[in-house]
Amino acid sequence: MALSTVTSSDVQDLLNEVNAAGSELTNGHADAGPLPESGRLLAAAQKLTARLQNPVERVLEIVGQSHQNAVIRACSELGIFELVPQSGTVSLQELVDKTGADRQLLCEFRDGPSFPLSLPLRKLLTLRLIPLGEPLFPTKDRLMRTLTATGTFTEVEAETWCDLYQSSLKLPQYLQRTAYGTKPDPDGFRTPFQYGENTKLNIFEWLKTRPEQLKTFNLAMEAVSFRTLQSIEVYPFGTELGLNPSSSEDEVLLVDVGGGHGHKVAAMRAKFPDLKGRMIVQDLKETIDEIQDPKGFEPMVHDFFAPQPVKGARAYFFGRILHDWSDEDCHRILSNTISAMRPGHSRILLSETVLPDTGVPPLATLLDIHMMLIGGMERSRKQWDGLLAPMGLEIVKIWGEDVNIIEARLKE
Ligand SMILES: C[S@@+](CC[C@H](N)C(=O)[O-])C[C@H]1O[C@@H](n2cnc3c(N)ncnc32)[C@H](O)[C@@H]1O
Repeated sequence: MALSTVTSSDVQDLLNEVNAAGSELTNGHADAGPLPESGRLLAAAQKLTARLQNPVERVLEIVGQSHQNAVIRACSELGIFELVPQSGTVSLQELVDKTGADRQLLCEFRDGPSFPLSLPLRKLLTLRLIPLGEPLFPTKDRLMRTLTATGTFTEVEAETWCDLYQSSLKLPQYLQRTAYGTKPDPDGFRTPFQYGENTKLNIFEWLKTRPEQLKTFNLAMEAVSFRTLQSIEVYPFGTELGLNPSSSEDEVLLVDVGGGHGHKVAAMRAKFPDLKGRMIVQDLKETIDEIQDPKGFEPMVHDFFAPQPVKGARAYFFGRILHDWSDEDCHRILSNTISAMRPGHSRILLSETVLPDTGVPPLATLLDIHMMLIGGMERSRKQWDGLLAPMGLEIVKIWGEDVNIIEARLKE
C-alpha cells in the first residue's frame, strides 16, 4: 500500500472518523433505521480507502470499470450466476461442463498467455461477487446470495446494460454535438439515450417496442424498490390518509401514477390493512397488461401526459417518476394532475431523492447521471421548490431523512 502522499495524521484523523461512526453504529446512538447508521460508517470507510489508495491505481480502476461491466455481462449471458449455488460449492469443472465455455476462460486466475480469455471468473472474484471459498471452488457470499435469490442482480444488470450502456458510451459525443447542453442536437435527439439508440422515442416508448426488455425493466424496477419501499415506512399513510371518519370504501384514497406492477401499493396495503378506500395503479398499457394478480388495488391504463381521469383522490403518489423527466416534462405531468386535485383534500406525494446541497453521496451522483442519460435528473430541495412553486404547489413537508417523500399541496 503506497502511503507516500499520506501523512500519518491524515490516516489517524480518518481512522478516528471510522471509529466514531463504528461505535455510533454498535452502540445504537445513531438515528433510527439501518441505512443512515451504516451510511455514516460506510462514508468514513470510503474516505479512508480513497486516501490510502495510490491515485494512479485508483484512476486505472475507475477507467477500467466499463471492462468489468462487460465481463459481468458475458458471465451473465453464460449463466454463471445461476450455476453458482446459494449454499455449498460448485466445481469449476461443473461450470465448464454446464456452460460449454473454454476451461481456460473459466479456470485461469493468473495472467498468462490466455490472459484476455481468463478475465471473467477472475474478475468476478476480484469484484468479490464470487469469493473464492477453496481453490477452484467458488461459493456465493452474502451479497451474491442476496442478489441472485431475488433475481436482483440479473435484472438490474441486464436492464442497465441493454437500455443505457449505448447512451453512456456515446455521452461525450452527444455533449459535443449539443455544445455541452447549450444548443439543441443538430438531428433533434433530445437526450443522450435517444442519440445512443438512434431513436426519437423516449426510453419508455422505446421499451414498448421491445417486450422482453420491458419485462426486464419492470422486474428491475421492483428489484431496486427495496430502498424506495422504505418510503412506505417514512410516510404515515395510516394516520395521514386513513383515519378520517368520513372515509368510505368507494373513495379513492391513492393513485399510484406510473406505479409499474403495483409493488408499492401492494406493500402499503400489507402495512396498513385497515386503510379504507380504493387504491389505483396507473401505467402504460404494456406494463398494466403484465399485472396478473393485483393485490388490493385496481390497475388502470393511463398516460400521465394526458389529464388525470381520477378526480379528487386524497393522494396522487409518484414513485421515482419525476426524476426521469426534464423540468418542462415534469410541468406537463404535474399540470395534468393538478387539474384533478380537490383543494384542501388532495395532495401530491413524491417518493424521490432530495439531494443535499453539499456532500452528495456517491450513489446519488451516479443515479443523477443515470437520469441525465434519459433526460431527467435528481434534484435538491431548492430544485424541488423551483419545480413545484410555479405550478401553484407548495411543499408542506419532506418526510424521511435518507429516503424521502415530498408532500405538496395546492397553495391556498
Ligand atoms: C422509474 S419507473 C418507476 C416505477 C414505480 N413507480 C416504482 O417506484 O418502482 C417509471 C414508471 O413510469 C412509467 N411510465 C413512463 N412513461 C409513462 C407515461 N407516459 N404514462 C404513465 N406511466 C409511464 C413506466 O412504465 C414505469 O413503470
